[in-house]
Amino acid sequence: MARLIINGGASLNGEVNVQGAKNVALPIFAAALLTEEPVIVYNWPAISDVYNMLSILEHIGATVSFEKDRLLIDTRRAQRWEMPDSLAKEIRSSIFMMGPIMARFRMARFTYPGGCEIGNRPIDLHLRGLKNLGVNVTEAGGHIMCEGRRLKGGDVHLDYPSVGATENLMMAAAMAPGKSVIRNAAREPEIVELQSVINRMGGNVNGAGTSTIFIEGKNSLGGFTYTCMPDRIVAGTFMVAAVVTKGSITLKNIVPEHLFAISAKLREAGAKIEIYGDALTITGQERLREMHLIETGPYPGFPTDMQAQMCSAAAISRGTSIIVENVFDNRFKHVAELQRMGANIVIKNNVAVIKGVEKLHGTEVKAMDLRGGAALVLAGLCAEGKTVIDQAKIIDRGYETFDAELSLLGANITREEIEGG
Ligand code: UD1
Repeated sequence: MARLIINGGASLNGEVNVQGAKNVALPIFAAALLTEEPVIVYNWPAISDVYNMLSILEHIGATVSFEKDRLLIDTRRAQRWEMPDSLAKEIRSSIFMMGPIMARFRMARFTYPGGCEIGNRPIDLHLRGLKNLGVNVTEAGGHIMCEGRRLKGGDVHLDYPSVGATENLMMAAAMAPGKSVIRNAAREPEIVELQSVINRMGGNVNGAGTSTIFIEGKNSLGGFTYTCMPDRIVAGTFMVAAVVTKGSITLKNIVPEHLFAISAKLREAGAKIEIYGDALTITGQERLREMHLIETGPYPGFPTDMQAQMCSAAAISRGTSIIVENVFDNRFKHVAELQRMGANIVIKNNVAVIKGVEKLHGTEVKAMDLRGGAALVLAGLCAEGKTVIDQAKIIDRGYETFDAELSLLGANITREEIEGG
Protein backbone atom coordinates (compact mmCIF):
# COMPACT_ATOMS: atom_id res chain seq x y z
CA MET A 1 0.00 0.00 0.00
CA ALA A 2 1.12 3.51 -0.67
CA ARG A 3 -0.36 6.93 -0.35
CA LEU A 4 0.42 10.30 -1.79
CA ILE A 5 0.39 13.46 0.29
CA ILE A 6 0.04 16.75 -1.52
CA ASN A 7 0.13 20.25 -0.17
CA GLY A 8 -1.71 22.09 -2.89
CA GLY A 9 -1.20 25.50 -4.38
CA ALA A 10 2.22 25.33 -6.03
CA SER A 11 2.36 26.34 -9.66
CA LEU A 12 4.04 23.68 -11.83
CA ASN A 13 6.74 24.75 -14.26
CA GLY A 14 9.37 22.93 -16.26
CA GLU A 15 9.87 20.11 -18.73
CA VAL A 16 8.66 16.52 -18.89
CA ASN A 17 9.92 13.81 -21.18
CA VAL A 18 6.75 11.83 -21.83
CA GLN A 19 7.08 8.08 -21.14
CA GLY A 20 6.38 5.33 -23.68
CA ALA A 21 2.73 4.39 -24.13
CA LYS A 22 1.26 1.69 -21.91
CA ASN A 23 -1.48 0.90 -24.40
CA VAL A 24 1.03 0.22 -27.13
CA ALA A 25 3.58 -1.64 -25.01
CA LEU A 26 1.00 -4.19 -23.81
CA PRO A 27 -0.26 -5.44 -27.22
CA ILE A 28 3.25 -5.31 -28.62
CA PHE A 29 4.56 -7.55 -25.84
CA ALA A 30 1.72 -9.92 -26.71
CA ALA A 31 2.81 -9.80 -30.37
CA ALA A 32 6.19 -11.19 -29.27
CA LEU A 33 4.44 -14.57 -29.08
CA LEU A 34 3.84 -14.49 -32.83
CA THR A 35 7.52 -15.13 -33.46
CA GLU A 36 10.28 -17.40 -32.23
CA GLU A 37 12.88 -14.76 -33.05
CA PRO A 38 14.11 -12.13 -30.57
CA VAL A 39 12.01 -9.06 -29.89
CA ILE A 40 13.67 -5.88 -28.66
CA VAL A 41 11.68 -3.00 -27.22
CA TYR A 42 12.97 0.46 -26.26
CA ASN A 43 11.26 3.29 -24.40
CA TRP A 44 8.91 0.86 -22.67
CA PRO A 45 7.16 2.31 -19.62
CA ALA A 46 8.36 0.88 -16.29
CA ILE A 47 4.86 0.58 -14.80
CA SER A 48 3.15 -2.24 -12.92
CA ASP A 49 0.81 -3.19 -15.81
CA VAL A 50 3.85 -3.74 -18.00
CA TYR A 51 5.65 -5.85 -15.38
CA ASN A 52 2.52 -7.97 -14.95
CA MET A 53 2.35 -8.51 -18.71
CA LEU A 54 6.02 -9.56 -18.73
CA SER A 55 5.29 -12.01 -15.88
CA ILE A 56 2.58 -13.57 -18.03
CA LEU A 57 5.08 -13.97 -20.88
CA GLU A 58 7.52 -15.62 -18.47
CA HIS A 59 4.81 -17.95 -17.23
CA ILE A 60 4.18 -18.99 -20.82
CA GLY A 61 7.87 -19.85 -21.09
CA ALA A 62 9.44 -16.75 -22.62
CA THR A 63 12.63 -15.24 -21.26
CA VAL A 64 12.64 -11.57 -20.54
CA SER A 65 15.84 -9.63 -19.93
CA PHE A 66 16.72 -5.98 -19.52
CA GLU A 67 19.80 -4.01 -20.33
CA LYS A 68 19.31 -0.34 -19.45
CA ASP A 69 16.24 0.72 -21.43
CA ARG A 70 16.54 -2.22 -23.84
CA LEU A 71 14.08 -5.03 -23.19
CA LEU A 72 14.66 -8.39 -24.83
CA ILE A 73 11.88 -10.95 -25.14
CA ASP A 74 12.81 -14.42 -26.34
CA THR A 75 9.84 -16.74 -26.82
CA ARG A 76 11.69 -19.73 -28.33
CA ARG A 77 10.93 -21.87 -25.30
CA ALA A 78 7.35 -20.68 -24.85
CA GLN A 79 5.11 -23.70 -24.54
CA ARG A 80 2.24 -23.01 -22.15
CA TRP A 81 -1.08 -22.00 -23.61
CA GLU A 82 -2.86 -21.60 -20.27
CA MET A 83 -3.22 -18.17 -18.75
CA PRO A 84 -2.51 -18.17 -15.00
CA ASP A 85 -5.64 -17.10 -13.11
CA SER A 86 -3.82 -14.85 -10.64
CA LEU A 87 -2.03 -12.83 -13.33
CA ALA A 88 -5.06 -12.66 -15.63
CA LYS A 89 -7.02 -11.13 -12.75
CA GLU A 90 -4.34 -8.47 -12.22
CA ILE A 91 -4.47 -7.08 -15.69
CA ARG A 92 -7.21 -6.87 -18.29
CA SER A 93 -4.67 -6.73 -21.08
CA SER A 94 -3.96 -10.42 -20.50
CA ILE A 95 -6.82 -10.81 -22.97
CA PHE A 96 -4.49 -9.56 -25.75
CA MET A 97 -2.58 -12.78 -25.29
CA MET A 98 -5.51 -14.83 -26.48
CA GLY A 99 -5.02 -14.04 -30.18
CA PRO A 100 -1.24 -14.56 -30.18
CA ILE A 101 -1.43 -17.73 -28.01
CA MET A 102 -4.04 -19.13 -30.39
CA ALA A 103 -1.92 -18.20 -33.37
CA ARG A 104 1.17 -19.84 -31.87
CA PHE A 105 -0.21 -22.99 -30.21
CA ARG A 106 -3.63 -23.32 -31.88
CA MET A 107 -4.89 -23.70 -28.31
CA ALA A 108 -5.56 -21.30 -25.42
CA ARG A 109 -7.17 -21.45 -21.99
CA PHE A 110 -8.16 -18.28 -20.19
CA THR A 111 -10.05 -16.92 -17.21
CA TYR A 112 -11.99 -13.70 -17.44
CA PRO A 113 -9.52 -10.84 -17.18
CA GLY A 114 -9.36 -8.26 -14.41
CA GLY A 115 -8.02 -4.70 -14.51
CA CYS A 116 -9.43 -1.35 -13.45
CA GLU A 117 -12.98 -1.48 -12.21
CA ILE A 118 -14.41 1.04 -14.61
CA GLY A 119 -17.57 -0.75 -15.52
CA ASN A 120 -18.76 -3.84 -17.20
CA ARG A 121 -15.93 -4.93 -19.49
CA PRO A 122 -17.12 -7.99 -21.36
CA ILE A 123 -14.99 -9.87 -23.86
CA ASP A 124 -17.78 -11.03 -26.17
CA LEU A 125 -16.35 -9.14 -29.15
CA HIS A 126 -12.99 -10.87 -28.74
CA LEU A 127 -14.64 -14.29 -28.53
CA ARG A 128 -17.07 -13.77 -31.40
CA GLY A 129 -14.25 -12.46 -33.55
CA LEU A 130 -12.12 -15.52 -32.84
CA LYS A 131 -15.07 -17.76 -33.74
CA ASN A 132 -15.24 -15.96 -37.09
CA LEU A 133 -11.61 -16.96 -37.58
CA GLY A 134 -12.51 -20.64 -37.17
CA VAL A 135 -11.69 -20.97 -33.46
CA ASN A 136 -13.87 -23.25 -31.37
CA VAL A 137 -14.64 -21.37 -28.14
CA THR A 138 -16.22 -23.05 -25.12
CA GLU A 139 -16.83 -21.58 -21.70
CA ALA A 140 -17.09 -23.55 -18.47
CA GLY A 141 -16.44 -22.87 -14.79
CA GLY A 142 -15.19 -19.32 -15.38
CA HIS A 143 -12.66 -20.56 -17.94
CA ILE A 144 -12.62 -20.03 -21.67
CA MET A 145 -11.18 -22.76 -23.82
CA CYS A 146 -10.15 -21.94 -27.38
CA GLU A 147 -9.30 -24.68 -29.83
CA GLY A 148 -7.90 -23.41 -33.08
CA ARG A 149 -6.82 -26.29 -35.29
CA ARG A 150 -9.05 -24.77 -37.95
CA LEU A 151 -7.84 -21.20 -37.45
CA LYS A 152 -8.29 -19.44 -40.80
CA GLY A 153 -8.88 -16.02 -42.30
CA GLY A 154 -12.39 -14.65 -41.85
CA ASP A 155 -14.65 -11.63 -42.03
CA VAL A 156 -15.33 -9.97 -38.67
CA HIS A 157 -17.73 -7.13 -38.01
CA LEU A 158 -17.28 -5.64 -34.54
CA ASP A 159 -20.50 -4.31 -32.98
CA TYR A 160 -18.35 -1.66 -31.30
CA PRO A 161 -14.86 -0.46 -32.29
CA SER A 162 -13.19 -2.12 -29.31
CA VAL A 163 -9.48 -1.36 -29.09
CA GLY A 164 -8.57 -4.66 -27.44
CA ALA A 165 -10.73 -6.82 -29.71
CA THR A 166 -9.30 -5.13 -32.82
CA GLU A 167 -5.74 -5.77 -31.60
CA ASN A 168 -6.41 -9.31 -30.51
CA LEU A 169 -8.00 -10.24 -33.81
CA MET A 170 -5.29 -8.51 -35.85
CA MET A 171 -2.69 -10.67 -34.11
CA ALA A 172 -4.63 -13.93 -34.51
CA ALA A 173 -5.41 -13.15 -38.16
CA ALA A 174 -1.75 -12.30 -38.87
CA MET A 175 -1.03 -16.04 -38.66
CA ALA A 176 -4.39 -17.45 -39.77
CA PRO A 177 -4.16 -18.96 -43.27
CA GLY A 178 -6.05 -16.83 -45.81
CA LYS A 179 -7.44 -13.31 -45.81
CA SER A 180 -9.23 -11.58 -42.94
CA VAL A 181 -11.15 -8.34 -42.75
CA ILE A 182 -12.02 -6.53 -39.50
CA ARG A 183 -14.87 -4.06 -40.01
CA ASN A 184 -15.89 -1.31 -37.61
CA ALA A 185 -12.36 -1.65 -36.24
CA ALA A 186 -10.99 0.75 -33.62
CA ARG A 187 -8.93 3.57 -35.16
CA GLU A 188 -6.70 4.48 -32.20
CA PRO A 189 -3.04 5.36 -32.90
CA GLU A 190 -2.08 2.24 -30.93
CA ILE A 191 -3.73 0.11 -33.64
CA VAL A 192 -1.65 1.82 -36.31
CA GLU A 193 1.49 1.07 -34.29
CA LEU A 194 0.53 -2.59 -33.97
CA GLN A 195 -0.02 -2.82 -37.73
CA SER A 196 3.42 -1.38 -38.36
CA VAL A 197 5.00 -3.87 -35.95
CA ILE A 198 3.23 -6.87 -37.51
CA ASN A 199 4.34 -5.70 -40.95
CA ARG A 200 7.90 -5.30 -39.67
CA MET A 201 7.66 -8.96 -38.60
CA GLY A 202 6.90 -9.88 -42.21
CA GLY A 203 3.12 -9.78 -41.85
CA ASN A 204 0.67 -8.22 -44.25
CA VAL A 205 -1.80 -5.84 -42.60
CA ASN A 206 -3.25 -2.64 -43.96
CA GLY A 207 -6.05 -0.21 -43.25
CA ALA A 208 -5.22 0.44 -39.55
CA GLY A 209 -6.29 3.96 -38.64
CA THR A 210 -9.47 3.48 -40.71
CA SER A 211 -12.43 1.37 -39.69
CA THR A 212 -11.62 -1.51 -42.06
CA ILE A 213 -8.45 -3.54 -41.58
CA PHE A 214 -7.27 -6.14 -44.09
CA ILE A 215 -4.95 -8.94 -43.02
CA GLU A 216 -3.31 -11.67 -45.02
CA GLY A 217 -2.17 -14.49 -42.76
CA LYS A 218 1.42 -15.78 -42.82
CA ASN A 219 2.79 -19.16 -41.78
CA SER A 220 5.50 -17.60 -39.68
CA LEU A 221 6.62 -14.17 -38.58
CA GLY A 222 10.06 -12.80 -37.68
CA GLY A 223 11.48 -10.82 -34.76
CA PHE A 224 11.41 -7.04 -34.49
CA THR A 225 12.86 -4.02 -32.75
CA TYR A 226 10.40 -1.38 -31.65
CA THR A 227 10.59 1.94 -29.77
CA CYS A 228 7.35 2.68 -27.91
CA MET A 229 5.56 5.79 -29.06
CA PRO A 230 4.78 8.42 -26.40
CA ASP A 231 1.83 7.95 -24.07
CA ARG A 232 -0.88 10.41 -25.11
CA ILE A 233 -2.81 9.98 -21.86
CA VAL A 234 0.23 10.67 -19.68
CA ALA A 235 0.91 13.74 -21.84
CA GLY A 236 -2.72 14.85 -21.44
CA THR A 237 -2.53 14.40 -17.67
CA PHE A 238 0.52 16.70 -17.44
CA MET A 239 -1.29 19.22 -19.67
CA VAL A 240 -4.10 19.38 -17.13
CA ALA A 241 -1.52 19.63 -14.30
CA ALA A 242 -0.13 22.77 -15.95
CA VAL A 243 -3.48 24.51 -16.33
CA VAL A 244 -4.98 23.65 -12.94
CA THR A 245 -1.88 25.02 -11.20
CA LYS A 246 -1.63 28.07 -13.50
CA GLY A 247 1.84 26.92 -14.50
CA SER A 248 3.67 26.23 -17.71
CA ILE A 249 4.92 22.78 -18.73
CA THR A 250 6.84 21.77 -21.83
CA LEU A 251 6.15 18.20 -22.90
CA LYS A 252 8.86 16.56 -24.96
CA ASN A 253 8.59 13.40 -27.02
CA ILE A 254 4.92 13.73 -27.97
CA VAL A 255 2.87 13.28 -31.14
CA PRO A 256 0.79 16.49 -31.25
CA GLU A 257 -1.98 15.08 -33.45
CA HIS A 258 -2.67 12.35 -30.87
CA LEU A 259 -3.49 15.18 -28.46
CA PHE A 260 -5.80 17.25 -30.69
CA ALA A 261 -9.05 16.36 -28.85
CA ILE A 262 -7.48 17.17 -25.46
CA SER A 263 -5.77 20.35 -26.69
CA ALA A 264 -9.03 21.61 -28.25
CA LYS A 265 -10.90 21.35 -24.94
CA LEU A 266 -8.10 22.89 -22.89
CA ARG A 267 -7.79 25.77 -25.37
CA GLU A 268 -11.54 26.28 -25.10
CA ALA A 269 -11.00 26.61 -21.35
CA GLY A 270 -8.35 29.29 -21.87
CA ALA A 271 -5.06 27.36 -21.94
CA LYS A 272 -2.32 28.59 -24.24
CA ILE A 273 -0.73 25.73 -26.20
CA GLU A 274 2.24 26.12 -28.51
CA ILE A 275 3.48 23.20 -30.57
CA TYR A 276 7.06 22.80 -31.80
CA GLY A 277 7.61 19.56 -33.72
CA ASP A 278 7.44 16.76 -31.18
CA ALA A 279 7.09 19.07 -28.18
CA LEU A 280 4.50 21.45 -26.83
CA THR A 281 4.29 24.06 -24.12
CA ILE A 282 1.04 24.52 -22.28
CA THR A 283 0.44 27.52 -20.07
CA GLY A 284 -2.51 28.26 -17.85
CA GLN A 285 -2.48 31.84 -16.65
CA GLU A 286 -5.98 32.52 -15.41
CA ARG A 287 -8.74 30.55 -13.81
CA LEU A 288 -10.08 28.13 -16.43
CA ARG A 289 -13.34 28.76 -18.26
CA GLU A 290 -16.00 26.06 -18.45
CA MET A 291 -15.55 23.40 -21.14
CA HIS A 292 -19.23 23.30 -22.22
CA LEU A 293 -19.53 19.71 -23.39
CA ILE A 294 -17.01 16.85 -23.36
CA GLU A 295 -18.27 13.58 -24.79
CA THR A 296 -15.93 10.61 -24.70
CA GLY A 297 -15.81 8.33 -27.72
CA PRO A 298 -13.58 6.09 -29.79
CA TYR A 299 -10.61 7.81 -31.45
CA PRO A 300 -10.52 10.49 -32.82
CA GLY A 301 -13.19 11.35 -30.25
CA PHE A 302 -12.31 12.56 -26.78
CA PRO A 303 -10.43 9.75 -24.96
CA THR A 304 -12.29 8.14 -22.07
CA ASP A 305 -8.88 7.76 -20.38
CA MET A 306 -8.78 11.58 -19.99
CA GLN A 307 -12.34 11.99 -18.72
CA ALA A 308 -11.49 11.86 -15.00
CA GLN A 309 -8.64 14.37 -15.34
CA MET A 310 -10.98 16.78 -17.15
CA CYS A 311 -13.49 16.43 -14.29
CA SER A 312 -10.81 17.82 -11.96
CA ALA A 313 -10.12 20.73 -14.31
CA ALA A 314 -13.83 21.46 -14.75
CA ALA A 315 -14.32 21.30 -10.97
CA ILE A 316 -12.32 24.52 -10.49
CA SER A 317 -13.31 26.31 -13.69
CA ARG A 318 -15.51 29.41 -13.83
CA GLY A 319 -18.74 28.05 -15.32
CA THR A 320 -20.63 24.80 -15.77
CA SER A 321 -19.22 21.93 -17.85
CA ILE A 322 -21.02 18.80 -18.95
CA ILE A 323 -19.08 15.56 -19.31
CA VAL A 324 -20.70 12.57 -21.00
CA GLU A 325 -18.99 9.18 -20.61
CA ASN A 326 -19.96 7.09 -23.62
CA VAL A 327 -17.31 4.34 -23.53
CA PHE A 328 -17.48 2.74 -20.07
CA ASP A 329 -20.56 2.45 -17.90
CA ASN A 330 -19.03 2.98 -14.46
CA ARG A 331 -16.30 5.50 -14.89
CA PHE A 332 -17.30 8.24 -12.48
CA LYS A 333 -15.93 6.72 -9.26
CA HIS A 334 -13.57 9.68 -8.84
CA VAL A 335 -16.56 12.03 -8.62
CA ALA A 336 -17.52 11.02 -5.07
CA GLU A 337 -13.91 11.67 -4.02
CA LEU A 338 -13.84 15.05 -5.79
CA GLN A 339 -17.09 15.94 -4.03
CA ARG A 340 -15.34 15.27 -0.73
CA MET A 341 -12.83 17.90 -1.79
CA GLY A 342 -15.63 20.41 -2.34
CA ALA A 343 -16.41 19.86 -6.04
CA ASN A 344 -19.96 20.63 -7.14
CA ILE A 345 -20.81 17.71 -9.43
CA VAL A 346 -24.12 16.04 -10.16
CA ILE A 347 -24.17 12.66 -11.88
CA LYS A 348 -27.10 11.23 -13.75
CA ASN A 349 -26.38 7.96 -15.51
CA ASN A 350 -23.42 8.62 -17.79
CA VAL A 351 -23.57 12.43 -17.52
CA ALA A 352 -21.70 14.63 -15.05
CA VAL A 353 -22.76 18.25 -14.63
CA ILE A 354 -19.88 20.13 -13.05
CA LYS A 355 -20.37 23.60 -11.66
CA GLY A 356 -16.91 25.02 -11.06
CA VAL A 357 -16.03 26.19 -7.56
CA GLU A 358 -13.43 28.80 -6.67
CA LYS A 359 -11.30 26.34 -4.67
CA LEU A 360 -11.19 22.67 -3.79
CA HIS A 361 -9.98 21.80 -0.31
CA GLY A 362 -7.61 19.03 0.68
CA THR A 363 -8.88 15.95 2.50
CA GLU A 364 -8.31 12.18 2.54
CA VAL A 365 -9.50 10.49 -0.64
CA LYS A 366 -9.06 7.11 -2.31
CA ALA A 367 -7.84 6.27 -5.82
CA MET A 368 -10.48 3.91 -7.19
CA ASP A 369 -8.98 3.32 -10.63
CA LEU A 370 -5.91 4.37 -12.61
CA ARG A 371 -7.10 7.56 -14.33
CA GLY A 372 -9.48 8.44 -11.51
CA GLY A 373 -6.46 8.28 -9.19
CA ALA A 374 -4.51 10.62 -11.48
CA ALA A 375 -7.49 13.00 -11.42
CA LEU A 376 -7.32 13.11 -7.61
CA VAL A 377 -3.63 14.00 -7.80
CA LEU A 378 -4.52 16.87 -10.14
CA ALA A 379 -7.25 18.01 -7.77
CA GLY A 380 -4.82 17.82 -4.83
CA LEU A 381 -2.27 19.94 -6.71
CA CYS A 382 -4.68 22.86 -6.95
CA ALA A 383 -6.61 22.33 -3.70
CA GLU A 384 -6.16 24.41 -0.61
CA GLY A 385 -4.35 22.49 2.14
CA LYS A 386 -3.35 18.86 2.43
CA THR A 387 -4.75 16.06 0.26
CA VAL A 388 -3.99 12.45 1.11
CA ILE A 389 -4.60 9.93 -1.69
CA ASP A 390 -4.93 6.34 -0.50
CA GLN A 391 -4.42 3.31 -2.74
CA ALA A 392 -1.87 5.25 -4.76
CA LYS A 393 -0.43 2.03 -6.21
CA ILE A 394 -3.36 1.99 -8.64
CA ILE A 395 -1.81 5.09 -10.22
CA ASP A 396 1.51 3.23 -10.67
CA ARG A 397 -0.26 0.93 -13.14
CA GLY A 398 0.01 3.64 -15.77
CA TYR A 399 2.36 6.40 -14.62
CA GLU A 400 6.07 5.66 -14.39
CA THR A 401 7.37 8.22 -11.90
CA PHE A 402 4.38 10.52 -11.59
CA ASP A 403 4.97 11.94 -8.11
CA ALA A 404 8.72 12.32 -8.66
CA GLU A 405 8.11 14.22 -11.90
CA LEU A 406 5.46 16.44 -10.35
CA SER A 407 7.87 17.17 -7.55
CA LEU A 408 10.56 18.22 -10.04
CA LEU A 409 8.01 20.58 -11.60
CA GLY A 410 7.53 22.24 -8.22
CA ALA A 411 4.70 20.27 -6.61
CA ASN A 412 4.75 19.65 -2.91
CA ILE A 413 4.08 15.91 -3.07
CA THR A 414 5.45 12.98 -1.07
CA ARG A 415 4.84 9.25 -1.06
CA GLU A 416 4.33 7.17 2.03
CA GLU A 417 4.64 3.39 1.84
CA ILE A 418 2.40 1.67 4.36
CA GLU A 419 3.64 -1.70 5.52
CA GLY A 420 1.19 -4.56 5.59
CA GLY A 421 -1.65 -2.31 4.40
C1 UD1 B 1 -8.44 0.01 -24.22
C2 UD1 B 1 -7.40 0.73 -23.40
C3 UD1 B 1 -8.06 1.55 -22.30
C4 UD1 B 1 -9.10 2.48 -22.91
C5 UD1 B 1 -10.06 1.73 -23.81
C6 UD1 B 1 -11.00 2.64 -24.57
C7 UD1 B 1 -5.51 -0.75 -23.52
C8 UD1 B 1 -4.58 -1.64 -22.78
N1 UD1 B 1 -6.51 -0.24 -22.80
O1 UD1 B 1 -9.13 -0.86 -23.32
O2 UD1 B 1 -7.06 2.30 -21.64
O3 UD1 B 1 -9.84 3.09 -21.88
O4 UD1 B 1 -9.33 0.96 -24.78
O5 UD1 B 1 -10.30 3.57 -25.32
O6 UD1 B 1 -5.33 -0.47 -24.69
N2 UD1 B 1 -16.54 -4.05 -25.03
C9 UD1 B 1 -17.52 -5.01 -25.14
N3 UD1 B 1 -17.15 -6.27 -25.50
C10 UD1 B 1 -15.86 -6.61 -25.75
C11 UD1 B 1 -14.87 -5.62 -25.64
C12 UD1 B 1 -15.23 -4.35 -25.27
O7 UD1 B 1 -18.70 -4.72 -24.92
O8 UD1 B 1 -15.61 -7.77 -26.07
C13 UD1 B 1 -16.92 -2.68 -24.61
C14 UD1 B 1 -16.29 -2.31 -23.27
O9 UD1 B 1 -17.05 -2.81 -22.19
C15 UD1 B 1 -16.30 -0.81 -23.34
C16 UD1 B 1 -16.05 -0.54 -24.83
O10 UD1 B 1 -16.36 -1.76 -25.51
O11 UD1 B 1 -17.57 -0.32 -22.98
C17 UD1 B 1 -14.62 -0.14 -25.17
O12 UD1 B 1 -13.73 -1.12 -24.70
P1 UD1 B 1 -12.38 -1.46 -25.43
O13 UD1 B 1 -12.16 -0.50 -26.56
O14 UD1 B 1 -12.35 -2.90 -25.73
O15 UD1 B 1 -11.34 -1.16 -24.29
P2 UD1 B 1 -10.06 -2.00 -23.90
O16 UD1 B 1 -9.44 -2.56 -25.12
O17 UD1 B 1 -10.38 -2.89 -22.77
